[in-house]
Amino acid sequence: MLAPPEAATAPPVAPRRRERRRLIVGVAAALAVLAPLAWLWQASLLPDTYSVTDMGLVDDGRGGGHAGHGVATGGRGVDALTEPSTAPADVRVELVAREGSFRLASGEEVTGYTLNGTSPGPAIHAELGQLVEVHLVNESVPDGATLHWHGLDVPNADDGVAGVTQDAVPVGGSFTYRFRADQAGTFWYHSHQVSHVQVQRGLLGALVVTPPGGVGATDALALVHLYEGTRTVNGRSGETRVEAAPGERVRVRVVNTDNAPMSAWVPAAPFRVLAVDGTEVHEPGPVRDVAVEVTGGARADLEVVAPARIELGGASVLVGEAVPPPAPRPAAALDLLTYGTPAPLGLDPAAATRSFDYVIGRSPGFLDGVPGMWWTVNGRMHPDVPMYMVAEGDVVRMRVENRSGEGHPMHLHGHHAVVLSRDGVPATGSPWWIDSLQVGDGETYEIAFVADNPGIWIDHCHNLPHAVEGLVAHLMYEGVTTPYRIGGPNTPE
Ligand code: C2O
Ligand code: CU
Repeated sequence: MLAPPEAATAPPVAPRRRERRRLIVGVAAALAVLAPLAWLWQASLLPDTYSVTDMGLVDDGRGGGHAGHGVATGGRGVDALTEPSTAPADVRVELVAREGSFRLASGEEVTGYTLNGTSPGPAIHAELGQLVEVHLVNESVPDGATLHWHGLDVPNADDGVAGVTQDAVPVGGSFTYRFRADQAGTFWYHSHQVSHVQVQRGLLGALVVTPPGGVGATDALALVHLYEGTRTVNGRSGETRVEAAPGERVRVRVVNTDNAPMSAWVPAAPFRVLAVDGTEVHEPGPVRDVAVEVTGGARADLEVVAPARIELGGASVLVGEAVPPPAPRPAAALDLLTYGTPAPLGLDPAAATRSFDYVIGRSPGFLDGVPGMWWTVNGRMHPDVPMYMVAEGDVVRMRVENRSGEGHPMHLHGHHAVVLSRDGVPATGSPWWIDSLQVGDGETYEIAFVADNPGIWIDHCHNLPHAVEGLVAHLMYEGVTTPYRIGGPNTPE
């Protein structure tokens, strides 16, 4: 017979104590891990609504930065930063935003958002210097909508960033944008409310500003967008034809409205890059067998001579008849650091009055209570990202360094910046003016710009889901404030 097992009765005292000690040690260890986590979680929670001026670590660009959160309030509200002329507009457009399914120009049915019944919305054309007025009506976009004029340095009140420069326009509401088309070039517009969804699903269109008398060539638009995975040009999948006689020069304005960089190339023929991000390249020479990288949000105006084909990574533009057959992407890419010839910048980077770092990283942590791998700026996570402070007239240098493991199309609102160097190699080609700059992993760009457009300007990654994941900072002018709040009905990203 087996003796009754000891375990069936009360265990001896010593093992019970040992167990309790083990439990206490275990709980203490768990607390040691969890308490800081709980604190981090708690500290990451954002208020329901907050002013962009309360977020961010103030960086004055003079080495006296990181003074803490919040900038002095008071001063001019962004609402007051409007187009000064009250003259009647030269170009007037009404855009009615709707949610629903619609047909692409090539016939496929997709679900998303339209402007005046189509996506892309109507292309807006203006001549240099004209006053443009766009009346946005939100008929049925449930989250509300706004319009941002990507690349055109409009007054701050018309920048269209929900919660920063305006409230999102609710269903049944409207908003009027007024600005002068004071730069000839290729731009686009899109919603800046829940933008990572609304842009992808079609709340966008082209904005083209031409010099008086036109560009002296056939002028065509190639706005590229992915609708539910289908790459389109001007809303058409497959091939898009531009009529042109043999020998005719055609300017094709390529707009990348997607999150990822896109390559454009011209099989079997020379071409030129006439403009980048709405600014003419100085003395652009002919190139061939190179790809032009057009990053998310960026534009490149290509000049081809008919007949020619432009490949846009899954869709094509056929210029004229009897165009060459498609060809794979050339291995080499055009380097805008050396393309074209130098010309005066119109600013002196050596005399910069502010200088900033925008170092992109990635780290585990909590963003508004959600654990994840989040983007960081200068080592800190949203909302502890920099608030870059400037005053009107400052010459600003910014070093954009990417150590995050992925490339990012960085986009500063309200300003055009010129590239000074990449990885310490100075730019030697045409002045390379950008508003959307692909900063590859491991790369460092130095850029410069003049602070000539007062306001509060978002400076974010245009791979829009990355903006949601915290890759957002702001440039703010001293003495400017905003009555709007992020949160509630306003979700800019
Ligand atoms: Cu094209 Cu902040 O946007
Ligand atoms: Cu990004």
